[in-house]
Amino acid sequence: MPAVPCYDSSMPRRYVPAYFPNKDDALAFVNGYDYWYQRIFLGHDVYTRPIGPALHERVWDRLKACFPADLHGASALDVGTNAGFFPIQLKNLGAGKIVGLEFEDRYLSQSSKIKEIYRLDDFEILNMDAHRLVELGSEFDITVFTGIFYHLKNPLQVIEDIGRLTRDAILIEGEVIPESILNGVRVRMGFPPKLMYQRSGLMKFVGGGRLNNDGSNWWVMDRECLEQMLRVAGFRFFSRPVFESSQACHGRHQEQGLNPGH
Ligand SMILES: C[S@@+](CC[C@H](N)C(=O)[O-])C[C@H]1O[C@@H](n2cnc3c(N)ncnc32)[C@H](O)[C@@H]1O
Repeated sequence: MPAVPCYDSSMPRRYVPAYFPNKDDALAFVNGYDYWYQRIFLGHDVYTRPIGPALHERVWDRLKACFPADLHGASALDVGTNAGFFPIQLKNLGAGKIVGLEFEDRYLSQSSKIKEIYRLDDFEILNMDAHRLVELGSEFDITVFTGIFYHLKNPLQVIEDIGRLTRDAILIEGEVIPESILNGVRVRMGFPPKLMYQRSGLMKFVGGGRLNNDGSNWWVMDRECLEQMLRVAGFRFFSRPVFESSQACHGRHQEQGLNPGH
């Protein structure tokens, strides 16, 4: 299958893979793992997974517009760093110290190898659960928080911890409840409290494999809920969210009475 170029291949790169002497060695490395979540270029037209662009590449395509052309050594925390796709992108923009948190052996192994392949200096990979962030004891200019908040049992605790150790901005991507007039719960609110119908600020428990048959998913929240949590954590300015969900589009079509298949 022909390799599909990385989304950001047009950007100037400081870090490029120059590790494998030939294509066979690169392929052997890829095939040494039974699964790759992230698609990373290894040289010789070889990627860690052949099909693309993958979700994190599309996410980066959107996120990179938020960054200055040169990060001038800004530090970054990457929560759920997986194989190290985002650290490579940040390093190519001139980031300084990067800490990647990960707790799955397979991804810890992949990210350490990718660090070696790309010669990513000042990229520290920690075998650490995001719920133990307070133990880090250091601050970062930027936090990358993609594909992770639905995996957290206690998202507010983690977001508050991130708020304490992030000096500038947090970049977030994740599954959210699509906005829809069909959503809503009746809940006691206000003072004195009375039953009110709420269409947003919602969070749904999806533990026990209710989402994607994946026991590592715990919560899905809507945009409003996430923003309120970020406010609790001290974040003050929010950019307009971008949605990329067939479900969200589907919901909107239904509300407008249009054929959802269009
Ligand atoms: C869906 S993947 C997203 C990876 C990457 N952030 C991205 O957007 O491409 C979730 C990653 O977070 C890691 N992860 C999940 N829960 C975690 C936790 N509590 N602490 C640290 N890492 C976690 C998983 O092992 C996995 O690598």
